[in-house]
Amino acid sequence: MVTRAMPLSALPPPAATRSSSMETTSATPASRQFQVASASDAADRANTLIEITDFDFYYGAKQALFDINLKLDDKRVTAFIGPSGCGKSTLLRCLNRMNDLIDGTRIGRGGIKIRDVDIYQRDVEPIELRKRVGMVFQKSNPFPKSIYENIAYGLRIQGINNKVRLDEVVERSLRGAALWDEVKDRLHESGLGLSGGQQQRLCIARTIAVQPEIILMDEPCSALDPIATAKVEELIHELKKQFTIIIVTHSMQQAARCSDKTAFFYMGKLIEYADTRTIFMNPSNPQTEAYVSGRFG
Ligand SMILES: Nc1ncnc2c1ncn2[C@@H]1O[C@H](COP(=O)(O)OP(=O)(O)OP(=O)(O)O)[C@@H](O)[C@H]1O
Ligand SMILES: [Mg+2]
Repeated sequence: MVTRAMPLSALPPPAATRSSSMETTSATPASRQFQVASASDAADRANTLIEITDFDFYYGAKQALFDINLKLDDKRVTAFIGPSGCGKSTLLRCLNRMNDLIDGTRIGRGGIKIRDVDIYQRDVEPIELRKRVGMVFQKSNPFPKSIYENIAYGLRIQGINNKVRLDEVVERSLRGAALWDEVKDRLHESGLGLSGGQQQRLCIARTIAVQPEIILMDEPCSALDPIATAKVEELIHELKKQFTIIIVTHSMQQAARCSDKTAFFYMGKLIEYADTRTIFMNPSNPQTEAYVSGRFG
């Protein structure tokens, strides 16, 4: 039994991108239908990074998620919206197995794949997974260390202590988080001396320093003023060129401004998932319509 960690980035691309040989089937009406289905499925799956299937999740005896089926796109921003307690944070934490750290949690049914790898299989090390799937929390949580050491930390715990390399990563990450110009002259001062908005960007810089593929953001702007919020939103727009982002938000405006697709949850169930425009302009479910128009939640 091999128990080494599985680097998700080293895995082959999704199977669908490798299966064009199936398209040589003869063209009877039935097989043509099959070809059309498999071709569109291939196109669909080529953009899918995360696939959640028939997923039930429990805290002890309490079921928090019911039969979630959701495919999340690579290098896009997906927003999770819905009233308090509907399971947004729970699902987000399932994506990097943060819920493993809570006693009594369990998956009842189904699973989650990232790049076709079941992230709950035994070979996947949660710590390795969390390097690939970083997380930014509602309340910014810089370490009580210098700005520089906040960013260098993730590399230092990987055994990287080379100053030139660390300097490079610190600068690249702070630039990536649109914070470099504001802090370049005080890198060795405490991260806790920054404003709330700067601290949140510092946490984003810390997350991107270890080059994850996916960034999970749980209400990253809820403690920020409109100017700091606008900065983080601009940043999200930039970051999606490089990362896949999932953001939980209670702000309809924020979901509409930042995300490509939106998933609406209610009482632990996924009610509707579509392009953000569709969710806000033309939702198909009356509960989605009521929520996005502010009539409940
Ligand atoms: N650690 C926990 N132990 C037990 N139950 C929990 C725990 N965390 C969340 N829950 C329950 O799971 C359900 C979903 O909670 P979750 O925090 O995922 O909701 P949410 O949509 O993120 O809400 P909010 O918008 O208020 O942050 C709720 O009923 C909540 O009480
Ligand atoms: Mg939450």
